[in-house]
Amino acid sequence: MPEPDGDAKNFYADVPAPSQGFFLKGSGSLDWGMSNRLARVFRPDTGRTVMLAIDHGYFQGPTTGLERVDLNILPLVPLADALMCTRGILRSTIPPSSRTSVVLRASGGPSILKELSDEQIAVDIEDAARLNVAALAVQVFIGGEHETQSVHNMTRLVDLGLRYGMPVMGVTAVGKQLTRDAKYIRLACRICAELGAQFVKTYYVDDGFDTVTASCPVPIVMAGGKKLPELDALTMAHRAVTEGAAGVDMGRNIFQSDNPLGMMRAVVSVVHEGSSPVEALEIYRSSKGASIGHRSKR
Ligand code: R5P
Repeated sequence: MPEPDGDAKNFYADVPAPSQGFFLKGSGSLDWGMSNRLARVFRPDTGRTVMLAIDHGYFQGPTTGLERVDLNILPLVPLADALMCTRGILRSTIPPSSRTSVVLRASGGPSILKELSDEQIAVDIEDAARLNVAALAVQVFIGGEHETQSVHNMTRLVDLGLRYGMPVMGVTAVGKQLTRDAKYIRLACRICAELGAQFVKTYYVDDGFDTVTASCPVPIVMAGGKKLPELDALTMAHRAVTEGAAGVDMGRNIFQSDNPLGMMRAVVSVVHEGSSPVEALEIYRSSKGASIGHRSKR
């Protein structure tokens, strides 16, 4: 039975409805579902993200620090805005009660024993939707042997992602033979964005990283790379966000630290709270001794 149209209603006819923008660079024209997923990766209050990358096993097996994700990684997960992992680890090891968003590794194929750029799409978009992930991650090998194939993997996922409201993160992979400088990183990031990636993961470069973020029309998250001394890793993260990155996606510099939980807290403080590298190092140090699990050797 319809409600009678009485006098109690208030339409606030004199209050214009706000026209809502979206907080992320280059993301103002996306559909609601995709924007909502991006807001599960990037914190709307800071516009940044701390992603924890633990997907290394998809091509290199049980990487140091990831031998037992259940023991060494699960305690870190609640501190991350997003966990970057494979669907195998997600289904087998990450509790579905986790509140942390997931960025799903969606390309793969070759192991470290083969040519790494020879990847294909490794996840059906319907499975990604079934897993309720917030975004897909695909490796793009600009200048690599299978450059076109890897770019095509990304563009196919972008098409599928647009259909399902699923953002795609293009991950710029740097082959051993390529120089990792601002010129190369600018090229790789811009190609990912031009061809539709909603955000891009790339490496920090000491000279000219601000030109990389400036010339990429969508958010960039900084990749961690090989393990550095903690202060160096925190300094790199600090420089990256100061020079325009919308956060970080770090793996080995967190889970290979002697204090992964402290390192996680320290990175969060740099990215979201504006801590200096030295202040963040103190956070890392002061939580040393807080055990996250089992480090017995075998
Ligand atoms: C890149 O090839 C993969 O996505 C990695 O497994 C991961 O993201 C690397 O993270 P990190 O370099 O910080 O250990």
